Amino acid sequence: MRIYCHYGSNVITLDGPAGAGKSTIARLLADRLGCEYLDTGALYRAVTLFLLTRSIGTTEEEKISMALKECVVSLEGGKVFIDDRDVTQKIRSPEVDRAVSAYSALSAVRDFLLETQRRTAKGRKVVAEGRDMGSVVFPEASFKFFLDARVEVRAARRWEELKARGEVITFEEVKTQLSRRDELDSGRELSPLRVPEEAKVIDTSEKTVDEVIGEILAVMAGRRSC
Ligand code: DC
Repeated sequence: MRIYCHYGSNVITLDGPAGAGKSTIARLLADRLGCEYLDTGALYRAVTLFLLTRSIGTTEEEKISMALKECVVSLEGGKVFIDDRDVTQKIRSPEVDRAVSAYSALSAVRDFLLETQRRTAKGRKVVAEGRDMGSVVFPEASFKFFLDARVEVRAARRWEELKARGEVITFEEVKTQLSRRDELDSGRELSPLRVPEEAKVIDTSEKTVDEVIGEILAVMAGRRSC
């Protein structure tokens, strides 16, 4: 079944806080619709890793702007690259987890990635996942969704992921880190996490992945017949 809508732009946006299920849903939805999956959190993580590796702190915006002139981040075939280096695993480290929200709040970083994101999506059909997809990066998107879930549910999902990766961490620690990241992502001045206008909000707390995908496809199918 192909429900992709050909009016407007070729972008479907999924925004929401960490652990709301965006990555899983966006990946499956992209497969289902024959689109590419644009994981913008991975781009912010890659830039964070790049700056941490160069020991450039969040207060050094000028240095950041200069350094980013020499940085090429890209997504290809589900992998993340800084220049030609595959950093897919490294960007998921606890160190990057802790630092990414602070770097993401900086205009030097957001301006740099705004361009990267739009260039990556140009001429393609994409499911774009992040925090400001529908509000700032792709305001003209054909369909906008906002996935949310209770903080306990989101923390439990993230905890399972971390344990599966062999990390030793308690549920409470994960919940605290996640809440802190939510606060920073929602409270920052530039492109804060918000429900975009016209977005359909889906609470995934009590829903299976299939149910969420079904709801998204139903919205798209309904709108297409308008
Ligand atoms: O989706 P994620 O957890 O991998 O995202 C990591 C961080 O990147 C998130 O805490 C905030 C930032 N981010 C952002 O500011 N804007 C986006 N569009 C995507 C992610």
